[in-house]
Amino acid sequence: MTKTLQFLVFLVLQILFLPLAILGMIPAVYKEMVVSRKLGASFTAGQAIQPRWIMHYFGTREDEATVAFIKAFPIESHWGFLGVMGAAIVANRICGYTPGLAKVPEPGRETLMTFLPARVVHNDRLAKRSMERVEQVVLMGAGFDLRVLELSRGTDLEVFELDMDKTQQLKLATMKAAGIAYDHVTYVPIDFRHEDWMDKLIEAGFDSTKTTYFHWESVNSYLEEDVVRETLRKMAELCASGSVVVQDFYSTTLLTGAASSGFGSTGRIVAWMGEPWRFGIDMSKDAKATIEALLDEYGLVVKEVVLCGAKDESTPPFYAIVEAVKE
Ligand SMILES: C[S@@+](CC[C@H](N)C(=O)[O-])C[C@H]1O[C@@H](n2cnc3c(N)ncnc32)[C@H](O)[C@@H]1O
Repeated sequence: MTKTLQFLVFLVLQILFLPLAILGMIPAVYKEMVVSRKLGASFTAGQAIQPRWIMHYFGTREDEATVAFIKAFPIESHWGFLGVMGAAIVANRICGYTPGLAKVPEPGRETLMTFLPARVVHNDRLAKRSMERVEQVVLMGAGFDLRVLELSRGTDLEVFELDMDKTQQLKLATMKAAGIAYDHVTYVPIDFRHEDWMDKLIEAGFDSTKTTYFHWESVNSYLEEDVVRETLRKMAELCASGSVVVQDFYSTTLLTGAASSGFGSTGRIVAWMGEPWRFGIDMSKDAKATIEALLDEYGLVVKEVVLCGAKDESTPPFYAIVEAVKE
């Protein structure tokens, strides 16, 4: 069936399912915006796992753990998501319709919506590859990510997760309620902006003689530039040579709203939810060279850069995922 026909099937279903979508929005928005605030947990960390739930339901990336987690999660609504996405899911089962939020775009064709699944699969690939090469893993600003937890299950890896206390407590309580085992991971509550995460990590058992994988996904944009630089310095200083850092960067034009008014509104919402964007990279010239120069200051050698949204030579990217190694 052609894409147009698939879309028409979805459209008819969406009209029929409209009351369900509206009903679904109520618990979804209430939990995301009201309950998360009440609990003092990260709103953006809840948002970050939504594409993983969506991709699971459209068959583009299996993630039973995230679905089980969201079913028990006080700040996202599984039933709300089913209401909102119901028409698209039924259209998918009938004729293979898959919305942009659920499929990985061709490299360079990412848009502000479709880069989210791209972010998930590139981070999956880089995390898996790195975890096979090291002895220790640190998930920096872990949020509600279950990727590292699942990939490290049954291995000899030492795993540490760092995040703000209330977000971490909510994750632990939700995993317990969902029956997700997490005993092999050490949880370290930390505020990167106001505490020395390095000391706390060492106190928790981190071994600086071991090769380490630092996974730092969608976190540096919430920190001031000097905190980002200090964190990079400590990461590079802390671990043995051969250690790997995977992190991502957003462009300054995106975060200031200059690239898209829609994204500007997203920025106002996250700021209102207490997590303003603070750091981006100027990607207007040569984004890869700019990132390489930044990481080089800390002895980190870039091995791979994925640039999203650079559809031709005259269009700069708006988002980058970077793998760097301490040599
Ligand atoms: C967009 S979420 C990303 C979560 C996770 N890395 C993922 O990709 O699913 C941002 C995360 O950074 C954490 N974070 C932001 N500022 C922080 C700070 N100052 N100290 C510790 N964690 C912080 C938030 O609590 C949240 O979990």
